[in-house]
Parts: sequence; structure tokens; C-alpha cells
Amino acid sequence: MNPPRKLFIRTYGCQMNEYDSARTADALAHSHGLELADRPEEADVLLVNTCSVREKAEEKVFSELGRWRALKRRRPGVVIGVGGCVASQEGDAIRDRAPQVDIVYGPQTLHRVPGMLDDVLRARRPRVDVSFPEIEKFDCLPAPGANGPTAFVSVMEGCSKYCSFCIVPYTRGEEFSRGFDDVLDEVRGLAGRGVREVTFLGQNVNAYRGPVAGGGRPASLARLIAAAAQVRGIGRIRYTTSHPSQMSRDLVDAYRDVPELASHLHLPVQSGSDRVLKLMNRPPRVDRYRDTIARLRERRPGISISSDFIVGFPGETDADFRATLDLVDEIGFDTSFSFIYSRRPGTPAADLPDDLPRVEKKARLAELQARLAGHAARTAAAMVGTVESVLVERPSKKDPAMLSGRTGNNRVVNFASPAGALLIGRFVNVRIDEALPNSLRGTIVPKGLHGMAARA
Ligand code: SAM
Ligand code: F3S
Repeated sequence: MNPPRKLFIRTYGCQMNEYDSARTADALAHSHGLELADRPEEADVLLVNTCSVREKAEEKVFSELGRWRALKRRRPGVVIGVGGCVASQEGDAIRDRAPQVDIVYGPQTLHRVPGMLDDVLRARRPRVDVSFPEIEKFDCLPAPGANGPTAFVSVMEGCSKYCSFCIVPYTRGEEFSRGFDDVLDEVRGLAGRGVREVTFLGQNVNAYRGPVAGGGRPASLARLIAAAAQVRGIGRIRYTTSHPSQMSRDLVDAYRDVPELASHLHLPVQSGSDRVLKLMNRPPRVDRYRDTIARLRERRPGISISSDFIVGFPGETDADFRATLDLVDEIGFDTSFSFIYSRRPGTPAADLPDDLPRVEKKARLAELQARLAGHAARTAAAMVGTVESVLVERPSKKDPAMLSGRTGNNRVVNFASPAGALLIGRFVNVRIDEALPNSLRGTIVPKGLHGMAARA
């Protein structure tokens, strides 16, 4: 049989999953020379990397596998793999429902996919490995390639918070951090390949406690940010996702001390009701969350705050939901994510009585989303007339004669530039002229003109 040449990966879920897919593709390019295909029909190895935070994503995986089964009937040499959280949760059971699957790997075993592929090709026997070998993953993956001026850097894995609704601690394992020096080496390597903005990733990235070469106290996320800001070429740093109980003093102070830290923080609150937060096993109550935001705004005026929200959590009353809407108005959250509670078997909340009718949950979600959209639109409108520091990422999708980049608060800005693609990978100042529903339009202004300072 001919060796496989092309790889197709379908990813469902969060940035962590996107990152894991990219690293799996790197590993298979390195080990087997596999090139990425645009469509499953062109590929010899098909992987679906999945999220199981909500039930919908899980269902999508099995319908995808159904389509791929037909493909495999036509081309029996095709190898099919399932990775990520659904794989980790279901393990062997995936093959009961989808026997066409050859490889099942978890978020912590993706570096073993090349070896598993070899075994499948050699013995034509399925391989399942969803164990948690922890940090081994980072030691075994090739250095990530840089694809443009922005890059993700995974700094910690897993979650030990056990929110009562969430499956992540069971699928990704407990928190563990990558070594501080290792992460910084990766940042230096990326900067050397033209990366100007890094986003540190982790399910609970502010729980980062990275062992430091030569011993001593583990490094906090704030220390990592300060060190990365010193790396030549790195002009902007982001991190996601954070837990509100771990917004330590040094991390809050970093917004005052590190200008490279973007003026945007995604800090999921989930609900504005203390009663619901308690049922969710989310320790910081609403007052503490408010206090954290106030401290952040004191250190970095104008910082934009976004959040995740869950509506229709078991037992959420109308008053609880109103408290969430009130908090949204009070904080003025920027573009955020909101979800209807999805029952995940095996989590503590799955045993709570959940009698709110689905139509009511949907109505709450629609009301919350309208409220959030209003605040996001106001934030965008308030940016009109300001000058923003924009990292130029690519030609604009809609009009290739224009350039596209992001502001510190993570908004896409399109603008015309006579210098064209030469500016890709540079920070430029752009005056915002117009706020459209999903993006901004602006005009490039020379640095230092207009007496206006661009925001980080
Ligand atoms: N570490 C983050 C934090 O501090 O909360 C969250 C990571 S979680 C994978 C991403 C988001 O998915 C959560 O913030 C939550 O809003 C949502 N989520 C998790 N489990 C869910 C469930 N069972 N139903 C609905 N949404 C859920
Ligand atoms: Fe999930 Fe809560 Fe961790 S939402 S990822 S258990 S912080």
C-alpha cells in the first residue's frame, strides 16, 4: 500500500483545540511528511479533534465520522482518528459506535499520533491511547512553525477547578505547567520567525506555575509575561482563559507595568448570582469579581473585559438571571460568549434537578446575547476617532487591496495602505473611522502625529 501523503483535520471547540490540531499536524509533517489537505476527500489520514464541553460538539463528531465511513468504504486504506476531549471521555467506546475509527488519542497523547499511525499502517489494528502522561507531550513535539505574525503558545494544561457543570478536568486532567525556560525558548524561536504577538494558552492559564531551571520558586504567569515582553520582536502579549479566583496581585499589576500586555482580558464570570455561582462551584462571588475588575481598570484605564456566561443552569430563577443581566450592564462587557447549560454526564451538576423548559432557556440566552451585543457595539462606537495600535496580520479578506489587523482589545480593523503587504507583521497606528457590525474601518496615521498616543 502507498504511504499516506495527505492529512485532513477537522477541529471542534476552543483555541486549545485549534492549537492541539496545529501541533498534531506539525508532528505528522515531521514524522511522515504529511501535507494538509483542504477537503477530506483528498486525504489519506483523517482526524477529527473534538471538544465535549457541550453536547452539540459531541454529536457533530459522530455525524462527521458517519460521512468518513462512506469515504473509507471507497478507499479502505484511509486511516481515521478521533482526538481531543470526546476521545478522552469515550476511549474505546468510540469504536463501538464508529468501528471505522483506527486511532483514538486524547489531548495529552497527541504527540504519540505518529507512532500510533505507524502501528495502524503496519498491523492494520486500531490503537487507543487516552492516558495523561502530562508534560511528556511538550518534550516530544517538534518546535512549532510560525504562520504569520501571531502565535499561540500553550503554557499549561488541564484544570483542577472542578466547576460543577464542566467536563474539562475529567477529559484533560489536572493542571500542570510547562517549564518557564522552555516556554521562553519557544517565544524566542517564534519571534525569530517573525511572530510579534503571542497568546499564552491554558484552560486556566493564570494558574500557571512554571518550574524554573536551576530551581527556586515556580514562575507565575505575571513573571512569564514580563519575561516574554523582553524578548526582542515581541510587541504584544495576550493570554486565555483565566479563572477569576486566580487574578493574583502581580497579574493585576502587570497591566500597569507591562505595556506589551494587551488591553483586553477574557475573564469568565458565568453568572451574576452568588447563589448560582455557589451551585456551580465557582468560589469568587460576584463582589470579588467586581473588585478584581475595579483593580484592573485602575491599573489600565479603558481595558476591555469579556466573559463566558451560562444560562439555564439547574435551579436558575428569573431573579438569578436578572442579576446576570445587571452585572453585564454594570461591567459593560465587551464581545463575550454565552451558552445554554448543557448537562454533562459524570459531572456533579448532572444530578441537579433541571426543570426549566427549553423555550425559557432559549429566551434567556437571546435576551443575554442582545444585551451583550449592545455593549459590544457601544465599545466599538466609542473607538471611533481614537488612534489604535494595530498589528497588521494579512490582506483584508473582503478587499485584498486593504490590510487587516487587530487592536489591543482584539477588534479586527481594515484599512488602506500604499505600503501594502510590506506592513504585515508591523505595529501601525490606525485612526478608527467607522464601526461596522463585525469589524472596524480606519486610516493609517504616521506614528507620533496628531499628538495622540495609540492604546496598547
Ligand atoms: N477556564 C475557564 C473558566 O475560568 O471558566 C473556562 C473554560 S471552559 C472549557 C469554556 C466555557 O465553556 C466555560 O467558561 C463555560 O462558560 C462553558 N461551559 C463549560 N461547561 C459547560 C456546560 N456543561 N454547559 C454549557 N457551557 C459550558
Ligand atoms: Fe471548566 Fe471551570 Fe476549569 S469551566 S475548564 S472546570 S475553570
